[in-house]
Parts: sequence; C-alpha cells; structure tokens
Amino acid sequence: MPMKDLFTPIKWLPEGKVCFLEQTRLPREEVWVETSDCARIADAIERLAIRGAPLIGIAAAYGLALAALSTQATDYESFRSDLLKSAVRLRSTRPTAVNLGWALDRVMRAVDGVRDVSDAREVTIRTAQAIHQDDIGACRRIGEYGAPLLPAGARVMTHCNAGALATGGYGTALGVIRSAWKAGRLKHVLANETRPLLQGARLTAWELREEGIPFTLIPDSAAGLMMQRGKVDAVVTGADRIAANGDTANKVGTYHLAVLSQANRIPFYIAAPTSTVDLSIASGAGIPIEERSPSEVREVHGVPVAPDGVDAANPAFDVTPGEYIAAIVTEAGVGRAPYGESLRSLCQRGVAAHA
Ligand code: MRU
Repeated sequence: MPMKDLFTPIKWLPEGKVCFLEQTRLPREEVWVETSDCARIADAIERLAIRGAPLIGIAAAYGLALAALSTQATDYESFRSDLLKSAVRLRSTRPTAVNLGWALDRVMRAVDGVRDVSDAREVTIRTAQAIHQDDIGACRRIGEYGAPLLPAGARVMTHCNAGALATGGYGTALGVIRSAWKAGRLKHVLANETRPLLQGARLTAWELREEGIPFTLIPDSAAGLMMQRGKVDAVVTGADRIAANGDTANKVGTYHLAVLSQANRIPFYIAAPTSTVDLSIASGAGIPIEERSPSEVREVHGVPVAPDGVDAANPAFDVTPGEYIAAIVTEAGVGRAPYGESLRSLCQRGVAAHA
C-alpha cells in the first residue's frame, strides 16, 4: 500500500469494528486485523502490534468504543461500570505512554453526564474518532512547526519509530522529517535500528522507503561515530511522556543520543503532541518505565542470540533530562527552556486542553 499523507494504521469501520495494522509482521507482511472485541485491542497494545504513544491512546479510545457497543447494559450506571472495567484493562497494557490514560480519561469524561445508554454509546464512538482526527491534525502542525528548525539540506537522525505507524497518521518526529522533505529542506535521514525490537529497522525504514525519503539504517551503537564524522545536523525523536520540567521519556537509547548530541554540538529535538505532556509529574524521576520480557533481549525474532538462560534486562524507555533538549515541538508551537513555563502554556492551547 503506498504511504500517503493520510495513511493511518487504525480505522473505525462503520459496522462498529476496528481495523488495525498488525505491526509485529512488518516489514515482511502487511496484515490488517478486524475486531469487535476490546480485549483484542488490549492484547494488541501489549504485544506491540499497535504501538507508539499517540496510537496507543487512539487504539485504547476505540477499544472503549467497542466495549460500549458490546455491553448488554440497559441502564447508565451498569453501562458506565462496564466501560470502566474495560478502561482498567486497557490502562494496564503499557505504563509509560501517558497518551493511553489521557485518551481513556477523555472518553470517560465525555460519557459522564450522558444518562441515556444509546446516546452514551454514540458519544463514546464519536469521542474516539475525534481523538484520532485531532491527532492527525496535531501531527501535521508538529511537522509545520518543526521543519523550519532544521537547516537547509539537513541530515537528521531519528530513533525508534515516531511516524504514521505510531500515531493517527503522518507522525511526530517523522512528521517533522516529512514536512522538511516536502519543503525541500531535508537531504538525508539516519535511522537507528532500535534494539531490541527493531522499530527503526522494521518500521521507520518501511515508512521512509514508502515515502521515497533518502535514508541509511545504522546500528544504534554507530550513532556517536556518525555525529563525530559530521553526518548529523539535528536529532529528532518522539516521546512517550514529558514531565512538567521537560524531562522526556522515549524509547530506550534516546538518552544516549541526547548526551552525544550535546557533546557534538548538535541540536536534539523532541516532537510530540501536548497529549504526551504530563503536567502532573514534576520531573522524569516520576515517569514509570516499562520493563519488558528479558527474552526480547536474548532473542531476535524468536531465535536465541545469547547463551540459554543468561540474565538480561529489558527497560523499554529511558528519560532524557530537559537540559539536553534544544526544543520540544508540539501542535501548539515550539517550547524551549525553561520548560516549566513553555509546556504549561502550550498545553493550554493544544489538544491536551480537551482532556
Ligand atoms: O515501544 P514503542 O514502539 O511503543 O515505543 C515507541 C516510541 O518510543 C516512540 O518514539 C514514541 O512512542 C513516540 S511515537 C510518536
């Protein structure tokens, strides 16, 4: 399927089902899964078949819409209690991306006060669709604000996948890269492979190739060397949760890049919607970091690469202190240090204001 601007990895079907791209099968196969079962969405988020902070939020909201359609409840209190049970399950799937809880809270808030069950069902669906559409719009604006930050002819490094596959469409870090490419400002992308689950090699490489953007895939461990060799003008990554002071959780390995960027005098940018900002958390120390199965480190696609049974650790995210971040690009504008002030004002103007 050619990658168009409005490519989206998830769709709400008019018959009341969700259709999503099974990302664990990329890039070898493009498998689309249709479901009317909220539990299947929760499972897909846990398995990373659906992944990336904004997409996790959108999928969770659609999961609640499926739950709203499938509950047998006839009175509002039972309806709301069934929805809350599904929300608890969805919320438990992944701890780091704040977009998940943000989206669930937005749906539950919209339903509150709608006493008629069939109206409440409609509101659930409409709110999930609005979260999806808002995210596409936010990504486009992130692209518009982010592209001018790059120098003409920019060579940009990115980590993990913060593209259309991680959002409602278009992408955050890849949104900036797409917009810069369209504006003729981008020369080349260095895509880090992103061990252990290879989101860079499998997903970012797939997206960039579909879009015809020139890029080179590199091992994560080559990032510093590429900077020393003068091959990187800027680093742009996405985020899973940004604390009130600008400390940012993103895919593990991002912190190294930020420190390396500072050592090599290269600007390091975060691109994320305001729905990824968590003003309730003062600093990165309060961000929960997901620990995934050690088998993902000991194996590659199920093939063992380490001696049987060795101890392995698999933290899925790390936290980059705000002091390493040159700017945070959101749909409401570009935030700079001191982030305590800039993030608060961006959140008042962005999609976060809907929550
Ligand atoms: O574990 P993943 O693949 O969900 O991690 C994704 C990332 O770390 C992304 O950079 C982040 O969610 C931003 S996506 C726009």
